[in-house]
Amino acid sequence: MKFSHDFLFGAASASYQVEGAWDEDGKGMTNWDEFSKIPGKTFEGTNGDVAVDHYHRYKEDVALMAEMGLESYRFSISWARIFPNGDGEINPKGIEFYNNLIDECLKYGIVPFITLYHWDLPLTLEKAGGWLNPRTLDAFVNYAKTCFEAFGDRVKHFITFNETIVFCALGYMAGAHPPGITNDPKKYFQAVHNVFYAHAQAVVLYKSMNLFGEIGISNVFAPAFGVDNSEDSHKAAYHANAYATHLYFDPILKGEYPAYVMDALQKSGFHPEQTADELAIIKQAASLNDFMGLNYYQPSRVELIKGELAQREITRENSTGAPGNPSFDGVFRTVKMDDKRYTKWDWEISPQGFIDGLKMLRERYGHVKLYITENGLGDEDPIVESEICDVPRIKYIEEHLQAVKQAIAEGVNVKGYFAWSVIDLLSWLNGYKKQYGFIYVDHKNNYERKKKMSFHWYRSVIESRGEHL
Ligand code: BG6
Repeated sequence: MKFSHDFLFGAASASYQVEGAWDEDGKGMTNWDEFSKIPGKTFEGTNGDVAVDHYHRYKEDVALMAEMGLESYRFSISWARIFPNGDGEINPKGIEFYNNLIDECLKYGIVPFITLYHWDLPLTLEKAGGWLNPRTLDAFVNYAKTCFEAFGDRVKHFITFNETIVFCALGYMAGAHPPGITNDPKKYFQAVHNVFYAHAQAVVLYKSMNLFGEIGISNVFAPAFGVDNSEDSHKAAYHANAYATHLYFDPILKGEYPAYVMDALQKSGFHPEQTADELAIIKQAASLNDFMGLNYYQPSRVELIKGELAQREITRENSTGAPGNPSFDGVFRTVKMDDKRYTKWDWEISPQGFIDGLKMLRERYGHVKLYITENGLGDEDPIVESEICDVPRIKYIEEHLQAVKQAIAEGVNVKGYFAWSVIDLLSWLNGYKKQYGFIYVDHKNNYERKKKMSFHWYRSVIESRGEHL
């Protein structure tokens, strides 16, 4: 089987992770410009001041993408380039940069797939309370409108938010992302609701503008499975899926929150404040939302915690995707299993978990249109005689594309695949050590680009529309 011609083969990046030029051409400071410079917050103090200099080298990068045969480039807009303070005056230089980037993509027939928010919040808004302050929500909707007006004639795919669960959980529970707050479930669930309300307003607005494109959101997709077939493990998996999947997918696709979670939050006192108007807009947006983006790296394996509630202890080191944590309410813990394969960062490699998860989604949400907006392998790539031999990445992506193929054959509606990432970039908490790209960046040699083995491999996959996978 070949992937059909309306299936997009792409790759992705995010502004803070690639652009650099953190204080150039009128850009405002972001929460990450500040947070990454607090000692101990990031791996070896790495930050995105220069990142991989995509801001200055976007033409070279897009030319390489074209050479790779890429059909779509998913990138994010840095809100603070457009609105240095989050709201207020527009910075024309910011609009100009993204116009240039979009036009450069279109020159080669590469479809620009834009994320409006990939975690770099203008610092002024963060200081004023971030996602807990209604000002941020209003500012987001206004920023989204500005992007729709400026770019919507050429950009036909918009993602509102990237991974609400990650920036809210790491920001308000683990303290590993800005604003660096720990163990505050009340704030965490409030931020999640506020983000979904902002998403919903942006969707309704976009549809009212008749720009004839599509809009959706990208969620982490980490389907939970019990460690064995026991009743306890089933309970643990149900609970984990309710909090990590249903809570994040239901409001977008069904327009309502899952009762299982909301009832528990009422009892524990962590229920977010919500008005009837907000809930009505979330409902309305669900009927207009065009697609769901899935960022799949790994499933989670869970077991019930018995007896005494485990103390939740989260640090930067253990909050970056590896198993071993109890859930915030002490109901289950994630487990590393002996019979599974893991990356160097202890992320499980499971194409089968991907297929099973996609079927779970189909059962709950029906024939919704899906894009895989992130999937890839974080690794330290071997260099042999100056060639970057990233064979494990090829294997990882091949297995996951095979999984997508199988899921499509079984009736799951997947319309595109974006590898993470197009080029090596800054990992938020792992610096430049954890590589994901098809293109290598030599930080010691003026950020020179080099094609990896996977670059050539992905080109041949796209050329043959995946026929030989
Ligand atoms: C996703 C993010 O959660 O995971 C990306 O959307 C991120 O921005 C990617 O880079 C990989 O995470 P990490 O921690 O391995 O760099």
